[in-house]
Order: sequence, then C-alpha cells, then structure tokens
Amino acid sequence: MSVITAAEVESAKGVLVVGLKDVVTPLARDRAKELGVKIERSGDAAPRPKPSPKPQPPAKSDAPSAKPADAMSGALYRRGAPVPNALRAEPGAAAPDPRPVAAVIGAGHVGAMTALRLAETSLLSRIVLVDVVPGLAAGLALDMWHSASLRGFTTRIEGSADISAVAGADYVVVTAGKPRQPGMSRTDLTGVNAEIIKKVAEGLRAHAPRSVVVVVTNPLEEMTHLMAKASGFPPGRVVGMAGVLDSARFRSLIALTGVAKPEEIEAIALGSHGPEMVIPLSLAKAKGAPLSSLLPADQLNAIVERARDSGAEVVKLLQKGSAYFAPAESAAAMVAEMLRESGKVLAVCVQSGGAYGLEDTRVGLPVKLGRTGLKEIVQLPLTSAEKAALAKAASSIAARVRELG
Ligand SMILES: NC(=O)c1ccc[n+]([C@@H]2O[C@H](COP(=O)([O-])OP(=O)(O)OC[C@H]3O[C@@H](n4cnc5c(N)ncnc54)[C@H](O)[C@@H]3O)[C@@H](O)[C@H]2O)c1
Repeated sequence: MSVITAAEVESAKGVLVVGLKDVVTPLARDRAKELGVKIERSGDAAPRPKPSPKPQPPAKSDAPSAKPADAMSGALYRRGAPVPNALRAEPGAAAPDPRPVAAVIGAGHVGAMTALRLAETSLLSRIVLVDVVPGLAAGLALDMWHSASLRGFTTRIEGSADISAVAGADYVVVTAGKPRQPGMSRTDLTGVNAEIIKKVAEGLRAHAPRSVVVVVTNPLEEMTHLMAKASGFPPGRVVGMAGVLDSARFRSLIALTGVAKPEEIEAIALGSHGPEMVIPLSLAKAKGAPLSSLLPADQLNAIVERARDSGAEVVKLLQKGSAYFAPAESAAAMVAEMLRESGKVLAVCVQSGGAYGLEDTRVGLPVKLGRTGLKEIVQLPLTSAEKAALAKAASSIAARVRELG
C-alpha cells in the first residue's frame, strides 16, 4: 500500500493509475479535480511517476507552529482533518514539512526581493514566485535557491509563469503591476494596474481560494479594495502593505537626527499611502521619550513631510522604476508576523468597518495580524486633530474607490 499525495497528482500526465489498496489523500483528490487528472485503480500497483521532491524539514526553524515530526503537511493532507495511522511518517523516513506555503505574484523588483526576504526567515516550506514573463520567475527562483547554503535558509523557492502554480499557497503577496516613473503619482497607475489585479484575483480565487492576500501593487488602497472585490475573499483575508513601509521610513529618517537608532524609535503611519498619510506625533517616541520633547516641532513636521514623499524621492533619484528594498522587507515582515503572531501592532491597509468612526473603506489602521490575516483593529489614543486627519484620509480614499466603480 502507498500513500498518494498531491505531489504525485501534480506530476501525472492526465491519468494517475494507483493500486487497489493505495490511500489517496483528500488534498490529492482535490488537486486531481483542479488539474483534470483522472485517478484510476488497477489490480496491481502500477508504476507511477516519481513525486516532485518534498521540502525537507528545517534543521532549525523558528516557526511557532512547527508540529511534531509525524504531523502532516497542509500540502499533503487537508488542515484540521484527522490523520490516519497509514499516513504517519515511518521512523527514520523524511517527515513531511509542516510549514506553510507562500506565493509571490510578480517577480519584478519588489516581488523578487520579497520572496528572498521571506525565504531567509525559514518560516515557510516553499515559496512560489509567479510572473507573466516566461522564465523570469523560474530563473530568479533557481538563482535564489542557489544562495540557500550560504544564507542558511531551508525554504524551497520555485518559479512559474502559470498562476495555477499558487495551488496550496496559504499566503500570497501580490506585487504584479507597473511601478511609478518620475513625475507620476501613484493614482496614475490605477487603470493599468486594475486590469492586472483583476486577473490575479481570478487566478487566486481558482487556485488558492483559502489564502491570505497581502497586496503591494499601487495605488495601494484602491488595489487592495479591488483584490477583495474581484477575489470575493472575506475582508480580513485581503490586506494591503503601505503603513509598515511608511512607518519604517519615518523611523529611519528620525534616526538621521541622531536621537536614537532606527529600532529604538516608535512611530506609526496611518491613513493613505500618499498625500493623506497621517503620522500621529502624539504617539511617536525615541527610547521611550516623546519625540516632541527631543526635536523642535518644525523639524518633526519636515520629517513627516519627507516620509510622506519618500517614495517619490527614491523614484526621482532612480530615474527608472521605484523603491523595492524597504517595500519588500515590509511585505515580508507582514507575512512573518502572521506566522509568528507576536502581537506587534502594525499599520496595515484594512477594511475600516466603522473603526475610529471612519467611513467604511480600505485605510491604513493599527492592527494585529495572525495566521488567518487580520486579527483585530487596535484602538490607539489619537488626539482630535489626528482623528480628523484620519477621517479626511478615509473619505478621500472612499471617493477614489467609488471612482473605480
Ligand atoms: N505598497 C507599497 O508601499 C509599494 C512600494 C513599492 C512598490 N509598490 C508597487 O509594487 C508594484 C511592483 O513594483 P516593482 O518595482 O516590483 O515593479 P516591476 O516592474 O519591477 O515588477 C512588476 C512585475 O509584475 C509582473 N506582472 C505584470 N502583470 C502580471 C500578472 N498578471 N501576473 C504576474 N506578474 C505580472 C511584470 O512582468 C513585472 O515583472 C508597483 O505597482 C509599485 O508601484 C508598492
């Protein structure tokens, strides 16, 4: 008797012949349906194509959910289902990798760097990079995997030009789309990127219907809204990355004044990823002391302005394309926080749902993330001016979202 896994289904060409006593896992059956592979029983155990190699368990992983060696992988067996004894790993056999799977759509500057940053955490069993340009994702993935022994990571990286490769992904980071060029605003990208996001959303609905999606494509709030609408995923499973980056930019710029190191500065950027960004200075601190007690107000306001325009500053310097090191680090940090569930409060673009008395739209708010996406919106003690600025941001975003139709 053998256990027939999704991997064997994936490597079958149209028909998979299995023996009478072979056990076919529910996920393998689902994959067969998705891929149109017919599973036939034969009297004799017929030779089958070799399954694609399973990722090895990490030598050392900080994944909080690491299960005992005999637990089954989400990629092998449906989550939550009882594990039959027949499917338990034999002593000495390579145990299935219990870590989740992520996909990154768009293997451009932000996507490629996000995949590498995520791989380096070793929190995931596998990362699938997808790009419409033939060979791009596969080539970059192989190149990244070649660095695994040097960087000491165990997450396998694969690439494909076919969106169906996202099958089995628990987390998806969407970076597909055009970046800004000098002189462009993020909203200038709406038309071209909306079409890309709708296409990607269709692919995710078909192939990774249970995934948690982190949207990176600009204009961020509009594309996050569109992804949720076009995928039909519940609001908590579609979040946008901007506030983590904008907060990081502000903290790094404050550190240039010499008051503290970047990591010793606390600040959060809410509202929109654009002109309506709100950085509540009443909450900003360096080594626990209020920033307003360390720096004069006009200097602080100038740094807020610079953080708000940092994306454009980088675009102008590069003259072609936009920022990607800090954006990729930010997107990877969001997925890592979903897996670690450390309880950190992060600025994330989410459906406001009436929080802070805001118009119901997608807007950057302080939240806690967890394994299934948004855990909770956190209520911070904002001043009335900060609340008013946040309300203004939400209503501007809502107007742009209405224009999307
Ligand atoms: N939210 C943020 O804070 C933030 C920060 C930086 C960049 N961005 C945005 O991220 C996006 C990507 O930026 P980049 O610098 O990586 O651009 P890039 O041009 O380097 O890469 C984009 C990639 O998307 C691919 N692509 C296009 N359509 C696709 C599809 N349907 N499926 C799969 N792949 C597809 C392209 O082939 C390209 O390789 C841009 O919209 C940019 O504005 C957002």
